[in-house]
Amino acid sequence: MNITIVDHPLVQHKLGLLREADTSTMKFRQLTQELARLLAYEATRDFELETVSIDGWCGKIDVKQIKGKKVTVVPILRAGIGMLDGVLDLVPSAKISVVGLARNEETLEPVSYFEKFVGNLDERIAIIIDPMLATGGSLIATIDLLKRNGCKTIKAVVMVAAPEGVKIVNDAHPDVQIYAASLDSHLNEHGYIIPGLGDAGDKIFGTK
Ligand code: URA
Repeated sequence: MNITIVDHPLVQHKLGLLREADTSTMKFRQLTQELARLLAYEATRDFELETVSIDGWCGKIDVKQIKGKKVTVVPILRAGIGMLDGVLDLVPSAKISVVGLARNEETLEPVSYFEKFVGNLDERIAIIIDPMLATGGSLIATIDLLKRNGCKTIKAVVMVAAPEGVKIVNDAHPDVQIYAASLDSHLNEHGYIIPGLGDAGDKIFGTK
């Protein structure tokens, strides 16, 4: 299975706190952002650097800067919004592309009801964010949309993934690297990740 599990102690500690059933909305939201920041740190680890010459305080010096492709962060509505600020803390100049998906009740397939992509997607690295990779349907649909709009380099950052979802995304899009804090046990009959976090969207937004 092609997924990077970020096993940093801070990531695992924060994930444990997120799993507590009675975490408040405020705490869940805050932990989601903190976790997103740490996961994004790992997802950007392979960004290419180049050396440039700058005017330092004592004259010209060589420094490193990120080369080439710029980033677009792609939250999947609605739960992905909960991770957005955490990722932007690390990549403040990133542009934001948004995808909204709803389930077609006949085919059960995700259908886009909102998509707003930044320009020049072919020159950008897209980082899709969604807290839960469950069946994989939304992630595949989002990757399909990004590729159809010219994007060539795509990563996905989730907090918790189910093996069923990872496999289906790996099969459909082997070029997309997935980063997660945990690969959990399985999906239950309602499509929830076990042990998972429950409904991450409801917990982030305080609904239900
Ligand atoms: N979405 C969630 O919010 N939680 C799950 O367990 C699965 C999908």
